Amino acid sequence: MINKISELSDLIGKEVKIESWVLNIRRQGKKLCFLSLYDGTAELQATVKLNNVGEDNFAITNDIYRGASVSLIGTVVEDTRSVGGIELQVSKVHIIHPSLETFDQEITPESGADVRLTKRHIVIRGPKSASVLRLKSHVIKYLREYFYSRGLEEVVPPLIVEAQAEGGSELFEIKYFDTHAYLTQSSQLYLEAAIYSLRDVFCILPSFRAEKSRTRRHLAEYTHVETEHAYMDFSGLLDFLEDMIIHVITQVRKYDSDILELWERKLDIPEKPFPRVNYNDALKILKENYDIDIPHGEDISDAPERQLVEHFGKPIILQNFPKKMKPFYHKIDPDDPNITKSADFLFPICGELIGCGERETDIDSMLKRMGQMNPPVDPEHYYWYLDLRRYGSVPHSGFGMGLERLVQWLLDLEHIRDTTLFPRTLNRLSP
Ligand code: 4AD
Repeated sequence: MINKISELSDLIGKEVKIESWVLNIRRQGKKLCFLSLYDGTAELQATVKLNNVGEDNFAITNDIYRGASVSLIGTVVEDTRSVGGIELQVSKVHIIHPSLETFDQEITPESGADVRLTKRHIVIRGPKSASVLRLKSHVIKYLREYFYSRGLEEVVPPLIVEAQAEGGSELFEIKYFDTHAYLTQSSQLYLEAAIYSLRDVFCILPSFRAEKSRTRRHLAEYTHVETEHAYMDFSGLLDFLEDMIIHVITQVRKYDSDILELWERKLDIPEKPFPRVNYNDALKILKENYDIDIPHGEDISDAPERQLVEHFGKPIILQNFPKKMKPFYHKIDPDDPNITKSADFLFPICGELIGCGERETDIDSMLKRMGQMNPPVDPEHYYWYLDLRRYGSVPHSGFGMGLERLVQWLLDLEHIRDTTLFPRTLNRLSP
Protein backbone atom coordinates (compact mmCIF):
# COMPACT_ATOMS: atom_id res chain seq x y z
CA MET A 1 0.00 0.00 0.00
CA ILE A 2 1.17 3.52 -0.83
CA ASN A 3 0.62 6.24 1.77
CA LYS A 4 0.07 9.89 1.00
CA ILE A 5 2.28 12.28 2.95
CA SER A 6 -0.79 14.11 4.28
CA GLU A 7 -1.78 10.88 6.10
CA LEU A 8 1.53 10.26 7.81
CA SER A 9 1.00 12.25 11.02
CA ASP A 10 -1.51 9.54 12.01
CA LEU A 11 1.07 6.82 11.43
CA ILE A 12 3.87 7.74 13.83
CA GLY A 13 6.00 4.69 14.68
CA LYS A 14 4.69 2.76 11.65
CA GLU A 15 6.50 1.58 8.54
CA VAL A 16 5.10 3.24 5.39
CA LYS A 17 5.74 3.44 1.68
CA ILE A 18 5.44 6.79 -0.09
CA GLU A 19 5.81 7.97 -3.69
CA SER A 20 6.87 11.57 -4.06
CA TRP A 21 8.84 14.24 -5.88
CA VAL A 22 12.11 15.60 -4.50
CA LEU A 23 11.98 19.31 -3.77
CA ASN A 24 15.50 19.47 -2.47
CA ILE A 25 18.40 17.22 -1.60
CA ARG A 26 21.08 17.97 0.97
CA ARG A 27 24.02 15.62 1.30
CA GLN A 28 26.00 15.64 4.52
CA GLY A 29 29.27 13.77 4.19
CA LYS A 30 29.19 10.28 2.71
CA LYS A 31 26.77 8.69 5.12
CA LEU A 32 23.82 11.01 5.48
CA CYS A 33 21.41 12.65 3.09
CA PHE A 34 18.24 14.70 3.65
CA LEU A 35 15.43 14.77 1.12
CA SER A 36 12.71 17.43 1.11
CA LEU A 37 9.68 15.89 -0.51
CA TYR A 38 6.30 16.98 -1.82
CA ASP A 39 3.86 14.40 -3.15
CA GLY A 40 1.04 16.74 -4.14
CA THR A 41 -0.64 16.38 -0.74
CA ALA A 42 1.96 17.69 1.75
CA GLU A 43 5.64 18.21 2.39
CA LEU A 44 7.93 15.85 4.28
CA GLN A 45 11.54 15.63 5.32
CA ALA A 46 13.16 12.22 4.86
CA THR A 47 16.49 11.19 6.29
CA VAL A 48 18.55 8.58 4.48
CA LYS A 49 21.39 7.13 6.58
CA LEU A 50 23.99 4.77 5.17
CA ASN A 51 23.65 2.63 8.29
CA ASN A 52 19.90 2.18 7.74
CA VAL A 53 19.80 1.50 4.00
CA GLY A 54 23.13 -0.21 3.31
CA GLU A 55 25.90 0.85 0.96
CA ASP A 56 24.33 -0.14 -2.40
CA ASN A 57 21.03 1.53 -1.67
CA PHE A 58 22.70 4.66 -0.26
CA ALA A 59 24.69 4.99 -3.52
CA ILE A 60 21.36 5.55 -5.36
CA THR A 61 21.03 8.91 -3.62
CA ASN A 62 23.96 10.19 -5.75
CA ASP A 63 21.65 10.01 -8.77
CA ILE A 64 18.82 11.98 -7.18
CA TYR A 65 18.34 15.55 -8.41
CA ARG A 66 15.62 18.04 -7.59
CA GLY A 67 12.41 17.16 -9.41
CA ALA A 68 13.03 13.40 -9.45
CA SER A 69 10.22 11.06 -8.48
CA VAL A 70 11.13 8.52 -5.82
CA SER A 71 9.53 5.83 -3.75
CA LEU A 72 10.68 5.41 -0.19
CA ILE A 73 10.03 2.88 2.54
CA GLY A 74 10.67 4.03 6.07
CA THR A 75 9.41 4.68 9.57
CA VAL A 76 7.51 7.81 10.52
CA VAL A 77 9.00 9.51 13.57
CA GLU A 78 7.97 12.63 15.44
CA ASP A 79 10.24 15.62 14.85
CA THR A 80 8.96 19.01 15.92
CA ARG A 81 11.66 20.83 13.89
CA SER A 82 10.51 19.32 10.61
CA VAL A 83 7.67 20.51 8.45
CA GLY A 84 4.45 18.84 9.59
CA GLY A 85 6.14 17.79 12.89
CA ILE A 86 7.24 14.42 11.47
CA GLU A 87 10.15 12.90 9.61
CA LEU A 88 10.66 9.72 7.62
CA GLN A 89 13.61 7.53 8.65
CA VAL A 90 14.24 5.81 5.35
CA SER A 91 15.03 2.08 5.05
CA LYS A 92 14.82 1.79 1.25
CA VAL A 93 15.23 4.26 -1.62
CA HIS A 94 14.05 3.74 -5.18
CA ILE A 95 14.12 6.23 -8.08
CA ILE A 96 10.88 6.00 -10.06
CA HIS A 97 11.99 8.47 -12.71
CA PRO A 98 15.20 10.50 -12.58
CA SER A 99 15.47 14.25 -13.03
CA LEU A 100 18.29 16.35 -14.46
CA GLU A 101 20.80 18.68 -12.86
CA THR A 102 19.39 21.45 -15.07
CA PHE A 103 16.18 21.47 -12.99
CA ASP A 104 17.97 23.91 -10.66
CA GLN A 105 18.24 26.49 -13.42
CA GLU A 106 14.60 26.32 -14.51
CA ILE A 107 13.46 28.66 -11.75
CA THR A 108 15.76 30.55 -9.41
CA PRO A 109 14.98 33.15 -6.73
CA GLU A 110 16.07 35.77 -9.32
CA SER A 111 13.57 34.62 -11.96
CA GLY A 112 11.23 37.47 -12.93
CA ALA A 113 7.48 37.33 -13.45
CA ASP A 114 7.75 36.55 -17.16
CA VAL A 115 10.12 33.60 -16.67
CA ARG A 116 7.90 32.29 -13.90
CA LEU A 117 4.92 32.39 -16.26
CA THR A 118 6.83 30.69 -19.06
CA LYS A 119 7.89 28.05 -16.54
CA ARG A 120 4.52 27.88 -14.82
CA HIS A 121 4.50 24.07 -15.27
CA ILE A 122 7.57 24.03 -12.98
CA VAL A 123 6.34 26.75 -10.62
CA ILE A 124 3.12 24.87 -9.75
CA ARG A 125 5.21 21.95 -8.47
CA GLY A 126 6.14 24.13 -5.49
CA PRO A 127 3.98 23.60 -2.40
CA LYS A 128 3.18 27.29 -1.97
CA SER A 129 1.92 27.73 -5.54
CA ALA A 130 0.11 24.41 -5.25
CA SER A 131 -1.63 25.61 -2.08
CA VAL A 132 -3.43 28.31 -4.11
CA LEU A 133 -4.73 25.69 -6.54
CA ARG A 134 -5.73 23.48 -3.63
CA LEU A 135 -7.67 26.33 -2.02
CA LYS A 136 -9.36 27.02 -5.34
CA SER A 137 -10.44 23.39 -5.53
CA HIS A 138 -11.83 23.59 -1.99
CA VAL A 139 -13.64 26.86 -2.67
CA ILE A 140 -15.40 25.25 -5.66
CA LYS A 141 -16.48 22.48 -3.28
CA TYR A 142 -17.78 24.98 -0.67
CA LEU A 143 -19.72 26.87 -3.33
CA ARG A 144 -21.31 23.71 -4.73
CA GLU A 145 -22.13 22.58 -1.19
CA TYR A 146 -23.85 25.94 -0.53
CA PHE A 147 -25.78 25.90 -3.80
CA TYR A 148 -27.06 22.35 -3.31
CA SER A 149 -28.00 23.13 0.31
CA ARG A 150 -30.19 25.92 -1.11
CA GLY A 151 -31.83 23.63 -3.66
CA LEU A 152 -30.01 24.78 -6.81
CA GLU A 153 -29.23 22.38 -9.67
CA GLU A 154 -26.02 22.55 -11.70
CA VAL A 155 -26.39 23.06 -15.45
CA VAL A 156 -23.86 23.23 -18.27
CA PRO A 157 -24.77 25.87 -20.86
CA PRO A 158 -22.82 26.08 -24.13
CA LEU A 159 -19.59 28.05 -24.22
CA ILE A 160 -19.82 28.64 -27.96
CA VAL A 161 -22.47 31.28 -28.56
CA GLU A 162 -24.06 33.13 -31.40
CA ALA A 163 -24.21 36.59 -29.86
CA GLN A 164 -22.94 38.82 -27.08
CA ALA A 165 -24.28 38.87 -23.54
CA GLU A 166 -22.28 41.68 -21.99
CA GLY A 167 -20.44 44.06 -24.29
CA GLY A 168 -19.62 44.01 -27.99
CA SER A 169 -15.91 44.76 -27.86
CA GLU A 170 -14.95 42.06 -25.41
CA LEU A 171 -15.80 39.00 -27.46
CA PHE A 172 -13.43 36.39 -28.83
CA GLU A 173 -14.62 35.49 -32.29
CA ILE A 174 -14.03 31.94 -33.55
CA LYS A 175 -14.57 30.09 -36.78
CA TYR A 176 -17.61 27.82 -36.50
CA PHE A 177 -17.91 25.45 -39.48
CA ASP A 178 -18.75 27.76 -42.38
CA THR A 179 -19.86 30.66 -40.21
CA HIS A 180 -18.49 32.38 -37.12
CA ALA A 181 -19.36 32.32 -33.44
CA TYR A 182 -18.07 33.67 -30.12
CA LEU A 183 -16.70 32.31 -26.86
CA THR A 184 -19.17 33.11 -24.11
CA GLN A 185 -18.73 36.04 -21.73
CA SER A 186 -21.43 34.84 -19.36
CA SER A 187 -23.91 32.00 -19.16
CA GLN A 188 -26.54 34.24 -17.61
CA LEU A 189 -29.01 34.31 -20.48
CA TYR A 190 -29.02 30.51 -20.75
CA LEU A 191 -29.40 30.20 -16.98
CA GLU A 192 -32.45 32.44 -17.26
CA ALA A 193 -33.93 29.92 -19.71
CA ALA A 194 -33.00 27.05 -17.39
CA ILE A 195 -35.06 28.37 -14.44
CA TYR A 196 -38.19 27.40 -16.39
CA SER A 197 -36.87 23.86 -16.28
CA LEU A 198 -35.20 23.55 -12.86
CA ARG A 199 -36.27 26.70 -10.99
CA ASP A 200 -32.94 27.58 -9.30
CA VAL A 201 -29.74 26.85 -11.18
CA PHE A 202 -26.01 27.46 -11.14
CA CYS A 203 -22.97 26.83 -13.29
CA ILE A 204 -19.23 27.04 -12.72
CA LEU A 205 -17.68 27.35 -16.18
CA PRO A 206 -15.12 29.38 -18.08
CA SER A 207 -16.05 32.80 -19.46
CA PHE A 208 -13.91 34.67 -21.97
CA ARG A 209 -13.22 38.38 -22.14
CA ALA A 210 -11.17 39.94 -24.89
CA GLU A 211 -10.56 43.02 -22.72
CA LYS A 212 -7.25 44.63 -23.43
CA SER A 213 -6.77 45.20 -19.69
CA ARG A 214 -3.41 44.78 -18.13
CA THR A 215 -4.56 44.92 -14.53
CA ARG A 216 -3.88 42.55 -11.67
CA ARG A 217 -7.47 41.35 -11.66
CA HIS A 218 -8.24 40.65 -15.32
CA LEU A 219 -7.88 37.38 -17.16
CA ALA A 220 -8.89 36.66 -20.74
CA GLU A 221 -10.32 33.32 -19.55
CA TYR A 222 -11.71 32.99 -16.05
CA THR A 223 -13.99 30.70 -14.06
CA HIS A 224 -17.43 32.23 -13.86
CA VAL A 225 -19.66 31.19 -10.98
CA GLU A 226 -23.23 32.10 -11.91
CA THR A 227 -26.70 31.44 -10.55
CA GLU A 228 -30.24 32.28 -11.53
CA HIS A 229 -33.26 32.06 -9.23
CA ALA A 230 -36.93 32.03 -10.18
CA TYR A 231 -39.28 33.99 -7.92
CA MET A 232 -36.39 35.80 -6.24
CA ASP A 233 -36.25 39.57 -6.01
CA PHE A 234 -33.25 41.85 -5.69
CA SER A 235 -33.15 41.98 -1.89
CA GLY A 236 -33.54 38.17 -1.68
CA LEU A 237 -30.55 37.86 -4.00
CA LEU A 238 -28.34 40.15 -1.90
CA ASP A 239 -29.23 38.10 1.16
CA PHE A 240 -28.37 34.85 -0.69
CA LEU A 241 -25.02 36.32 -1.73
CA GLU A 242 -24.07 37.55 1.73
CA ASP A 243 -24.76 34.06 3.09
CA MET A 244 -22.69 32.53 0.29
CA ILE A 245 -19.65 34.68 1.08
CA ILE A 246 -20.01 33.95 4.79
CA HIS A 247 -20.31 30.20 4.09
CA VAL A 248 -17.14 30.16 1.98
CA ILE A 249 -15.09 32.12 4.52
CA THR A 250 -16.36 29.97 7.39
CA GLN A 251 -15.36 26.76 5.56
CA VAL A 252 -11.96 28.14 4.54
CA ARG A 253 -11.21 29.14 8.13
CA LYS A 254 -12.31 25.72 9.34
CA TYR A 255 -10.68 23.42 6.77
CA ASP A 256 -7.90 25.44 5.16
CA SER A 257 -6.24 27.12 8.12
CA ASP A 258 -2.88 25.60 7.03
CA ILE A 259 -3.11 27.43 3.70
CA LEU A 260 -4.14 30.69 5.38
CA GLU A 261 -1.14 30.31 7.69
CA LEU A 262 1.23 29.66 4.79
CA TRP A 263 0.09 32.94 3.19
CA GLU A 264 0.00 34.70 6.59
CA ARG A 265 -3.61 35.61 5.94
CA LYS A 266 -6.07 36.40 8.69
CA LEU A 267 -9.62 36.25 7.40
CA ASP A 268 -12.45 37.86 9.27
CA ILE A 269 -16.05 36.93 8.59
CA PRO A 270 -17.87 40.04 7.34
CA GLU A 271 -20.99 40.95 9.26
CA LYS A 272 -24.40 40.92 7.60
CA PRO A 273 -25.72 43.15 6.13
CA PHE A 274 -22.73 44.38 4.11
CA PRO A 275 -22.91 48.16 3.68
CA ARG A 276 -25.13 49.16 0.74
CA VAL A 277 -23.84 52.19 -1.13
CA ASN A 278 -25.85 53.85 -3.90
CA TYR A 279 -23.96 54.66 -7.09
CA ASN A 280 -24.80 58.38 -6.74
CA ASP A 281 -23.51 58.43 -3.16
CA ALA A 282 -20.33 56.63 -4.21
CA LEU A 283 -19.60 59.41 -6.72
CA LYS A 284 -20.13 61.98 -3.95
CA ILE A 285 -17.83 60.11 -1.54
CA LEU A 286 -15.10 59.94 -4.20
CA LYS A 287 -15.44 63.63 -5.05
CA GLU A 288 -15.66 64.97 -1.51
CA ASN A 289 -13.01 62.80 0.12
CA TYR A 290 -10.56 61.97 -2.65
CA ASP A 291 -11.12 64.67 -5.25
CA ILE A 292 -11.98 61.99 -7.82
CA ASP A 293 -14.51 63.33 -10.30
CA ILE A 294 -16.41 60.64 -12.21
CA PRO A 295 -19.11 61.90 -14.59
CA HIS A 296 -22.52 60.52 -13.73
CA GLY A 297 -23.25 57.35 -15.72
CA GLU A 298 -19.60 56.32 -16.14
CA ASP A 299 -18.02 53.21 -14.74
CA ILE A 300 -16.04 53.51 -11.52
CA SER A 301 -12.69 52.17 -12.66
CA ASP A 302 -10.06 50.16 -10.80
CA ALA A 303 -8.35 52.78 -8.65
CA PRO A 304 -11.46 54.67 -7.43
CA GLU A 305 -13.15 51.34 -6.79
CA ARG A 306 -10.30 50.40 -4.46
CA GLN A 307 -10.54 53.83 -2.84
CA LEU A 308 -14.22 53.27 -2.11
CA VAL A 309 -13.59 49.92 -0.43
CA GLU A 310 -10.77 51.45 1.59
CA HIS A 311 -13.13 54.24 2.61
CA PHE A 312 -15.47 51.71 4.21
CA GLY A 313 -12.68 49.38 5.34
CA LYS A 314 -14.68 46.29 4.33
CA PRO A 315 -16.55 44.70 1.44
CA ILE A 316 -19.43 46.84 0.18
CA ILE A 317 -22.41 46.43 -2.11
CA LEU A 318 -22.52 49.19 -4.70
CA GLN A 319 -26.08 49.41 -6.00
CA ASN A 320 -28.70 51.39 -7.92
CA PHE A 321 -26.69 51.89 -11.09
CA PRO A 322 -28.13 54.23 -13.73
CA LYS A 323 -29.97 52.44 -16.51
CA LYS A 324 -27.65 53.77 -19.23
CA MET A 325 -24.62 52.01 -17.67
CA LYS A 326 -26.11 48.55 -17.63
CA PRO A 327 -27.00 45.90 -20.22
CA PHE A 328 -30.60 45.52 -21.41
CA TYR A 329 -31.41 42.62 -19.11
CA HIS A 330 -31.29 44.56 -15.82
CA LYS A 331 -34.65 45.36 -14.28
CA ILE A 332 -35.64 49.00 -14.13
CA ASP A 333 -36.56 50.08 -10.60
CA PRO A 334 -40.35 50.66 -10.62
CA ASP A 335 -39.82 53.51 -8.12
CA ASP A 336 -37.18 55.26 -10.24
CA PRO A 337 -37.12 54.56 -13.99
CA ASN A 338 -33.56 55.90 -14.28
CA ILE A 339 -31.95 53.19 -12.20
CA THR A 340 -31.65 49.42 -12.34
CA LYS A 341 -32.06 46.83 -9.63
CA SER A 342 -28.44 45.78 -9.91
CA ALA A 343 -25.34 45.74 -7.73
CA ASP A 344 -21.64 45.02 -7.65
CA PHE A 345 -19.95 43.51 -4.62
CA LEU A 346 -16.66 45.36 -4.16
CA PHE A 347 -13.93 43.70 -2.15
CA PRO A 348 -10.47 44.80 -1.07
CA ILE A 349 -7.62 43.47 -3.25
CA CYS A 350 -9.72 42.12 -6.13
CA GLY A 351 -12.17 45.02 -6.58
CA GLU A 352 -15.45 43.94 -8.20
CA LEU A 353 -16.06 40.38 -7.12
CA ILE A 354 -19.72 39.96 -8.01
CA GLY A 355 -22.06 41.54 -10.54
CA CYS A 356 -25.73 40.84 -9.86
CA GLY A 357 -29.28 41.98 -10.29
CA GLU A 358 -32.92 41.35 -10.81
CA ARG A 359 -33.82 40.70 -14.46
CA GLU A 360 -36.12 42.70 -16.69
CA THR A 361 -39.36 40.84 -17.42
CA ASP A 362 -41.15 43.51 -19.48
CA ILE A 363 -40.60 42.65 -23.15
CA ASP A 364 -41.38 46.13 -24.48
CA SER A 365 -38.95 47.82 -22.14
CA MET A 366 -36.32 45.22 -23.04
CA LEU A 367 -36.77 45.65 -26.80
CA LYS A 368 -36.47 49.41 -26.40
CA ARG A 369 -33.24 49.10 -24.45
CA MET A 370 -31.77 46.58 -26.88
CA GLY A 371 -32.08 49.26 -29.53
CA GLN A 372 -30.43 51.84 -27.27
CA MET A 373 -27.36 49.72 -26.49
CA ASN A 374 -24.07 50.67 -28.08
CA PRO A 375 -23.80 48.91 -30.47
CA PRO A 376 -27.54 48.10 -30.67
CA VAL A 377 -28.45 44.50 -29.90
CA ASP A 378 -30.28 42.60 -32.65
CA PRO A 379 -33.47 41.11 -31.12
CA GLU A 380 -33.43 38.39 -33.78
CA HIS A 381 -30.50 36.69 -32.11
CA TYR A 382 -32.45 36.76 -28.84
CA TYR A 383 -35.79 35.39 -30.08
CA TRP A 384 -35.55 32.61 -27.50
CA TYR A 385 -34.59 35.02 -24.70
CA LEU A 386 -37.52 37.26 -25.56
CA ASP A 387 -39.82 34.20 -25.54
CA LEU A 388 -38.95 33.83 -21.87
CA ARG A 389 -40.79 37.15 -21.43
CA ARG A 390 -43.68 36.09 -23.67
CA TYR A 391 -44.59 32.88 -21.91
CA GLY A 392 -45.07 33.12 -18.18
CA SER A 393 -42.12 35.16 -17.01
CA VAL A 394 -41.58 35.51 -13.27
CA PRO A 395 -39.52 37.84 -11.11
CA HIS A 396 -36.02 36.40 -11.18
CA SER A 397 -32.50 37.36 -10.21
CA GLY A 398 -28.97 36.09 -10.48
CA PHE A 399 -25.30 36.89 -10.27
CA GLY A 400 -21.86 36.25 -11.72
CA MET A 401 -18.65 36.00 -9.69
CA GLY A 402 -15.07 35.53 -10.85
CA LEU A 403 -13.76 32.51 -8.94
CA GLU A 404 -10.16 33.64 -9.43
CA ARG A 405 -10.95 37.03 -7.92
CA LEU A 406 -12.47 35.30 -4.90
CA VAL A 407 -9.30 33.22 -4.41
CA GLN A 408 -7.16 36.31 -4.96
CA TRP A 409 -9.01 38.07 -2.17
CA LEU A 410 -9.07 35.04 0.16
CA LEU A 411 -5.26 34.82 0.07
CA ASP A 412 -4.49 38.51 -0.50
CA LEU A 413 -2.57 37.73 -3.69
CA GLU A 414 -1.04 40.58 -5.61
CA HIS A 415 -1.88 39.14 -9.02
CA ILE A 416 -4.90 37.14 -10.21
CA ARG A 417 -2.76 35.02 -12.55
CA ASP A 418 -1.36 33.13 -9.53
CA THR A 419 -4.84 31.70 -8.93
CA THR A 420 -5.00 29.90 -12.27
CA LEU A 421 -3.29 26.77 -13.48
CA PHE A 422 -2.17 28.36 -16.75
CA PRO A 423 -3.31 31.97 -17.04
CA ARG A 424 -4.59 33.48 -20.24
CA THR A 425 -3.91 37.20 -20.40
CA LEU A 426 -3.35 39.87 -23.02
CA ASN A 427 0.25 38.77 -23.51
CA ARG A 428 0.14 35.14 -22.60
CA LEU A 429 -1.12 32.06 -24.37
CA SER A 430 1.47 29.50 -23.27
CA PRO A 431 2.01 27.07 -21.71
O1 4AD B 1 -19.95 41.95 -14.00
P1 4AD B 1 -19.91 40.89 -15.06
O2 4AD B 1 -19.47 41.28 -16.41
O3 4AD B 1 -21.36 40.26 -15.06
C1 4AD B 1 -21.83 39.35 -15.95
O4 4AD B 1 -21.18 38.76 -16.78
C2 4AD B 1 -23.23 38.92 -15.65
N1 4AD B 1 -23.88 38.48 -16.86
C3 4AD B 1 -23.16 37.82 -14.62
C4 4AD B 1 -24.50 37.31 -14.16
O5 4AD B 1 -25.27 38.07 -13.63
N2 4AD B 1 -24.76 36.03 -14.35
O6 4AD B 1 -18.99 39.70 -14.55
C5 4AD B 1 -19.25 39.05 -13.35
C6 4AD B 1 -17.97 38.84 -12.56
C7 4AD B 1 -17.26 40.13 -12.14
O7 4AD B 1 -17.85 40.67 -10.99
C8 4AD B 1 -15.85 39.61 -11.89
O8 4AD B 1 -15.72 39.00 -10.62
C9 4AD B 1 -15.70 38.54 -12.93
O9 4AD B 1 -17.01 38.16 -13.35
N3 4AD B 1 -14.95 39.02 -14.09
C10 4AD B 1 -13.64 38.74 -14.32
N4 4AD B 1 -12.76 38.00 -13.63
C11 4AD B 1 -11.50 37.90 -14.13
N5 4AD B 1 -11.10 38.46 -15.29
C12 4AD B 1 -11.97 39.21 -16.02
N6 4AD B 1 -11.57 39.75 -17.17
C13 4AD B 1 -13.30 39.37 -15.54
N7 4AD B 1 -14.39 40.00 -16.00
C14 4AD B 1 -15.37 39.78 -15.11
